[in-house]
Amino acid sequence: MIQKMTAAELRRKYIEFFKAHGHAEIKSASLIPENDPTCLFTTAGMHPLVPYLLGAKHPSGTRLVDVQKCLRTGDIDEVGDPFHLTFFEMLGNWSLGDYFKKEAISMSFEFLTKELGFRPEEIKVTCFAGDENAPRDTEAAAIWMSLGILEKNVYYLPKEDNWWGPAGQTGPCGPDTEIFVPIDKPDCGPDCGPACGCGKWVEIWNNVFMQYNKQADGTLAPLGKPNVDTGMGVERVTAFMQGVKSAYETELFSGIFAKIQELSKNAEANAQNRSARVVAEHLRASTFLIADGVKPSNVDQGYVLRRLIRRAIREARKLGITERFTSKVADVVIAEYSPFYPELKQNEKLIHDELDREEEQFAKALENGSREFYKVIEHFPPQVQKKVISGRKAFDLYETYGFPLELTEEMARENGFTVDVEGFKAAYAKHQEQSRAGAEQKFKGGLADHSEATAALHTATHLLHKALRLVLQYQCEQSGSNITAERLRFDFTYDQKMTPEQIKAVEDLVNEQIQKDLKVTCEEVPLEEAHKRGAIGLFGSKYGEVVKLYGIGDFSLEICGGPHVTHTGCMGHFKILKEESSSRGIRRIKAILERPEGTKIEYK
Ligand code: ALA
Repeated sequence: MIQKMTAAELRRKYIEFFKAHGHAEIKSASLIPENDPTCLFTTAGMHPLVPYLLGAKHPSGTRLVDVQKCLRTGDIDEVGDPFHLTFFEMLGNWSLGDYFKKEAISMSFEFLTKELGFRPEEIKVTCFAGDENAPRDTEAAAIWMSLGILEKNVYYLPKEDNWWGPAGQTGPCGPDTEIFVPIDKPDCGPDCGPACGCGKWVEIWNNVFMQYNKQADGTLAPLGKPNVDTGMGVERVTAFMQGVKSAYETELFSGIFAKIQELSKNAEANAQNRSARVVAEHLRASTFLIADGVKPSNVDQGYVLRRLIRRAIREARKLGITERFTSKVADVVIAEYSPFYPELKQNEKLIHDELDREEEQFAKALENGSREFYKVIEHFPPQVQKKVISGRKAFDLYETYGFPLELTEEMARENGFTVDVEGFKAAYAKHQEQSRAGAEQKFKGGLADHSEATAALHTATHLLHKALRLVLQYQCEQSGSNITAERLRFDFTYDQKMTPEQIKAVEDLVNEQIQKDLKVTCEEVPLEEAHKRGAIGLFGSKYGEVVKLYGIGDFSLEICGGPHVTHTGCMGHFKILKEESSSRGIRRIKAILERPEGTKIEYK
């Protein structure tokens, strides 16, 4: 009889069983690998043990058992379905040059049948079929059969299925034998088994026979002493033992969902709900990551953490959660897991602080960035068939508003657009190059005089700048401006000739804002705040300096000295006379404002 058990009981049973078989219990290592620059995260129980699997002496001996925290990011976009997780726990037992196939398989068999209650005839196993580098594993198959596994339930599969490791680019690896148990549903046909893919057979345990060390040149060198590495996913096995379809339906997540329901006042925010799953999964992972010292940032582990938190916030909004909530969910994770992972409770304050800070930052970015994103979509030229957010625009959203690329992609998808990811990467690389060169362009106001006509043209310049960014989907930088009483001249970074359609779209967009009679506002704020709010133009100002920030309705926000009209309705009709090259990578626009004689222009 299969034993119903909680995750805590499963962990305890596993550890006790292997301790009774001579294994020393070791603590879970950090989610951040200590000595493996090829991996951002600990992805398997064996990962922190690599030096010992390669022959170093482990202080606890040659037989080890543990529960290891792991994080895998390969399936991050799949999270939300019933099965995929980023963070998970892996039960594992190891032989460091001690026992090999016979004992390993026998202990697995005993644990499955005696402790978990499986009948031998309902277990199927797979073994390595062999290839030019390593022989068919008939030895493992014979051991299974000697224990009572039916011959028809032993399958030989190729390297893609029955070979494990290394965890990074190099390191210990070898053939494995995987153990499958059935969920309660009919066979899909006569060949129903581990390889059929119908979902009836669930892999619950993997025994790897680590006999090789994969070298940097890709070749396999035999290890002096072969090892055993096993892995059993806590979440998957717990769900199986409880007869439910996914980890989300086990007690590991029930408290988290209860909290999400309470915060959203939405009874449907439960284990079946995609958004609620993402919130629960990502915040569980984030809580563990922060406890292991990761902080949200734009690089490496910090970037993954930022992505997890920000995606959770977005999904939470879909459920109706608008208040600050991430640390409240983290509290449930801390309460649920601290008995086994005391580092969570120990780092409670850090977890709260980091989550609160990131949530605040993202709220600001989200508000400004979403507005910007929807403007692009709204003003997308209707005659263009292929709905693509340019790489440059995606980069602008990333750079100016803190939108991760994945978020832009997600929002694009939701609106029937795609994103030019290659273009994003190119813009990113170019930006890095430019910042390295430290090119600091100092803006020269270029305002000829302060008459009312120039004030209106000056305001038009702001509208033009913003309209160019939206229509060209490019973070055009002003590289020069010259305004007379008659016309404006505006130079900006862009490396292609604008099409007549683009010119028309820019003109229309500017005139639309004029017709709306938008209010022009002016505030004095620290530069840093202007930057956070996504303002255009940081022309050489110093950090901490107070700058004048001109807003034109909701449309434009730009740092500038003024003066400007007080409302756009009095500006007249905007017309582009010429669009030409100014110098390499710089375009120049000359434009005028036409208005009836005697129109009163208010400015300050
Ligand atoms: N290292 C093996 C795995 O992750 C046990 O499946």
